[in-house]
Amino acid sequence: MQRVLVTGANRGLGLAWVRHLAARGDEVFATCRRPEAAAALQALAEQEEKVHLLPMDVADEESIRTACAHIRQQGAVLDTVINNAGVLYEHETVDTLRPEHLLHACRVNAVGPMLVARAALPLLRPASRPVIFNVSTTLASLTLKTFSGYYSYSASKAALNMLTRTLAAELRPQGIIVVAVHPGWVRTDMGGPQAPLSPQASVEGMSTLLERLTMAHSGRFWTWEGKEHPW
Ligand SMILES: NC(=O)c1ccc[n+]([C@@H]2O[C@H](COP(=O)([O-])OP(=O)(O)OC[C@H]3O[C@@H](n4cnc5c(N)ncnc54)[C@H](OP(=O)(O)O)[C@@H]3O)[C@@H](O)[C@H]2O)c1
Repeated sequence: MQRVLVTGANRGLGLAWVRHLAARGDEVFATCRRPEAAAALQALAEQEEKVHLLPMDVADEESIRTACAHIRQQGAVLDTVINNAGVLYEHETVDTLRPEHLLHACRVNAVGPMLVARAALPLLRPASRPVIFNVSTTLASLTLKTFSGYYSYSASKAALNMLTRTLAAELRPQGIIVVAVHPGWVRTDMGGPQAPLSPQASVEGMSTLLERLTMAHSGRFWTWEGKEHPW
């Protein structure tokens, strides 16, 4: 049994992660901004005693600390942190780009995962193979960025990729694996109805990758299919 913290667990890929992990009997700390409004997650937590709902806004360091302190008070350890919460601003051009959107995307997509990782470190350290699994995107790839748009999203996730690589280097001596992962183009509120992948298929692929991660994978960028992604 694995013990896993998921951010942004109320819908989309986060909810699919919770469903997947709960179905295999893992203990899940499912966090979201407003658990009281997360009907699907509440229903799951009522059925599955190993699913625990906790409030966490990844843009609010105090709420991150409070959630991690709550897990610590339960005497729990974490095997994996899935930094899944994210925001995307669409239809940005150089003329329409709003600085507050760029800053908010950086806050949620880059600073948030870093603060979650920091607060969760004491919970991860006792695990036999601790993993920080940062959900990135192909739109963060500098190599593949030959098209316009997605300024805030691409830049904030590229920052997440650099934070992933730097954190992986710092935590390597402690045996903590840190990776960035592109989940594919997925049918969620963010991905839209045209996306080819279901949330379940994406999570199954990412879960297979998660299971086989070793220190050799740390500090690298992966696809949901377990292939290396260009930075
Ligand atoms: N779908 C795709 O095709 C695709 C492709 C590449 C990467 N991704 C990445 O995959 C991850 C999940 O995306 P998704 O497709 O499931 O998106 P989604 O359906 O839009 O869900 C986004 C999730 O992030 C949460 N969130 C946003 N701001 C937050 C905050 N400040 N604190 C806590 N939670 C917050 C949302 O919670 P609220 O309901 O409270 O807003 C929601 O649970 C994201 O990191 C995204 O960038 C998705």
